[in-house]
Amino acid sequence: MPTVRLADATEVAALGIGTWHMGESARRRGAEVAALQAAFDAGMTLVDTAEMYGDGGAERMVAEAIAGRRDEVFVVSKVYPHNASAKGVVAACERSLRRLRTDRLDLYLLHWRGRIPLAETVAAFEQLRRDGKIVRWGVSNFDVDDIEALLALPDGSRCAVNQVLYHLGERGIEWSLRALCRRHAIAIMAYSPIGEGSLLRDAQLARIAGSIRVTPAQLALAWLLRDEGVIAIPKTSSVAHVHQNRSAASIRLSATTIAQLDAAFPPPRTPTGLAVI
Ligand SMILES: NC(=O)c1ccc[n+]([C@@H]2O[C@H](COP(=O)([O-])OP(=O)(O)OC[C@H]3O[C@@H](n4cnc5c(N)ncnc54)[C@H](OP(=O)(O)O)[C@@H]3O)[C@@H](O)[C@H]2O)c1
Repeated sequence: MPTVRLADATEVAALGIGTWHMGESARRRGAEVAALQAAFDAGMTLVDTAEMYGDGGAERMVAEAIAGRRDEVFVVSKVYPHNASAKGVVAACERSLRRLRTDRLDLYLLHWRGRIPLAETVAAFEQLRRDGKIVRWGVSNFDVDDIEALLALPDGSRCAVNQVLYHLGERGIEWSLRALCRRHAIAIMAYSPIGEGSLLRDAQLARIAGSIRVTPAQLALAWLLRDEGVIAIPKTSSVAHVHQNRSAASIRLSATTIAQLDAAFPPPRTPTGLAVI
């Protein structure tokens, strides 16, 4: 499994697994836990969740999947912006830790920027880090102006990751956000890497994928992973899809295929703001 090196020199799997829309149904629980465990077994040892997902249900489901193997897995969770105050972050983190049945998060993200001053949230993240409840922190859905505001704060440069919408159909971060993050050693974590499934219905992607005998999901993931600084977190509740996605990490794309993808899904040609879901 290729890895991405974080600013503190920790290597994390470049391909992980997301959990949005998971942990919402008792009937699907077994399949979801099995998919996460299959991902960990296959080396996709990074799991992304949030207090928001399934109103805590996704974190409870992740707890089942990591039970007995916590140290193998890099656990990411997120705090709601309305919980991102000095006291609110600490309380939200403790609730997440209880649901996840763990003593620490490997990465804790501000889900998106809200009204609480960033300085207050960063100070609370730093307190959690000193207390050992989180190993590092980051942000999500932060565009260039948000990252600049963050970097102007004391300890703002300790931000490890910016988790953003990034896939073939949404390449806005290539205009300037990706380079800004890279300059400051903030890793990019690409969410919705197969467009919440929408890329699977794209005729051009299907044609290019067919020509090199891979599936559209694999091509979408391999295209993201060709960039050595990007972590991708596709969500799947299917063990078969986990295996398919895992093998995307071994696909090397030729210059011809990359050119075909650039023609079908062009990079931004004018300043483009960050798209969000
Ligand atoms: N920070 C944020 O604001 C934010 C926003 C959105 C998402 N996220 C995170 O990013 C993760 C991924 O994004 P996402 O869930 O929006 O979308 P996604 O990963 O782009 O797409 C998920 C969809 O693709 C399907 N799928 C996955 N692998 C497949 C394969 N090999 N073949 C066919 N279908 C496949 C899944 O269905 P099956 O389950 O049936 O495989 C699901 O319907 C989320 O789960 C969440 O953890 C974060």
